[in-house]
Amino acid sequence: MAWANTTIAEIGRDLDRYEGQPVRVHGWLYNKRSSGKIHFLQIRDGSATVQVVLAKKDVDDETFVAAKSLTQETSLVVEGVVARDARSPTGFEIQGSGLELVGASEDYPITPKAHGVAFLMDRRHLWLRSSRQHRIIRIRHTIIKAIRDFFDDNAFVLVDAPIFTPNAVEGTSNLFEVDYFDDKAYLTQSGQLYMEAAAMAHGRVYCFGPTFRAEKSKTRRHLTEFWMVEPEVAYMDLDGDMDLAEAFLCHIVERVLQKHRDDLVALGRDVAALERVKAPFPRLTHREAVDLINDAIDSGRADRRPAGAESRTGKGAEEEEEATETQESAAAAKRARYDDDFGADEETILSRLFDRPVMVHRYPHEVKAFYMKRDPEDDGLALCVDVLAPEGYGEIVGGGQREDDLASLEQRIDAHALPQEVFGWFKDLRRYGSVPHAGFGLGVERTVTWICGLHHLRETIPFPRMMERLSP
Ligand code: 4AD
Ligand code: MG
Repeated sequence: MAWANTTIAEIGRDLDRYEGQPVRVHGWLYNKRSSGKIHFLQIRDGSATVQVVLAKKDVDDETFVAAKSLTQETSLVVEGVVARDARSPTGFEIQGSGLELVGASEDYPITPKAHGVAFLMDRRHLWLRSSRQHRIIRIRHTIIKAIRDFFDDNAFVLVDAPIFTPNAVEGTSNLFEVDYFDDKAYLTQSGQLYMEAAAMAHGRVYCFGPTFRAEKSKTRRHLTEFWMVEPEVAYMDLDGDMDLAEAFLCHIVERVLQKHRDDLVALGRDVAALERVKAPFPRLTHREAVDLINDAIDSGRADRRPAGAESRTGKGAEEEEEATETQESAAAAKRARYDDDFGADEETILSRLFDRPVMVHRYPHEVKAFYMKRDPEDDGLALCVDVLAPEGYGEIVGGGQREDDLASLEQRIDAHALPQEVFGWFKDLRRYGSVPHAGFGLGVERTVTWICGLHHLRETIPFPRMMERLSP
């Protein structure tokens, strides 16, 4: 058995070559129906699913009888001839001539009937085989590839950031602490500070890896372990940062539309909404955004429906789901404030007012991280930007221009009650040839959630880690 066995997807892509030819497919039984003289086997091989027609007249008796008692997820190798079939999603079916059993599968727990989310999450290692999960993980793959291609094609250098770190980046309340020999270390919340060093060496850089936050809230937007891509550019200001984020997001959406239209439709995604994701994205100051949100609330236009509510997985009331909704609606009656950050509710209202991602810049300095540069026009504001995905999805990108002045940075470290000592190296970047610079972080799972039109981000990562979920 070779690593490069011919796959169902390959055959489908090259039907001119394979039509009428004998092939062997290495896969698993997804589904089956039988009439007296024919078995219709749905075989999946990881790349796609194809129907194998096993007619009594074409195979020996033993094979025909064996096929009759095949159970879901039995692994098998099928032989047969490729026949074009316009009704098949892959464009063909296989007229089966032989069947080889590889591994039995008894009482596979995930049947075609509906299951609850908690049941499925407990069986995530098997759930990944289901068609909806298969589509989502493939789209995630394409998004990650699109991210890498965008930066690679624009002369960014990939620089990996460490995962063990001595300090906090995004506040101290959600740090994961680990024993590090005789010392303490923290799992990284963001590679940004290291990218600032790397940008001074390479100009345009990015890191892409897992990041960790001890999020004690159970919401549909938070994982404790999530993947973030973080570009950082020397000699770039906040406007440049917004231009970069805009071009980047357009590229990702375009790529997914090119490659996954069928998958998006199958997931129930409103594809037209994704097609509207074109530059320019609206850019609002935080103050303008607050006014818009409050106007919407006052005039009864505030739409608080959680994003993707239409496409929930599973049926019935689920404990995990319930907890999520209660937490989020607790904030429902609140008006937005000039001196505060947005919560999930405000982000939902605001992002439901737009048909494409909206960029909110210049939040009050107090609510943002210590490294943000202040607006020279208004000392109370930070030169930062959050990009909110439309249709109620909310923040997918956070970033901005960094404090590049040593004295101001030291003041901010004190103001945030952070230890000066551990930032010695970071301050060096302001001592030796400091330049204006900026960057951002995009959360992969939130992006996949939005693009796939899902309700909860737990389906967008193969093995989600949340407060109450550490297995499988
Ligand atoms: O806005 P955040 O906290 O920004 C940073 O970490 C910056 N240091 C990034 C930078 O400028 N280089 O996080 C960035 C993004 C968010 O917009 C969101 O998409 C995602 O990371 N994110 C999470 N995704 C899932 N679960 C969580 N708990 C997340 N926290 C942040
Ligand atoms: Mg943020």
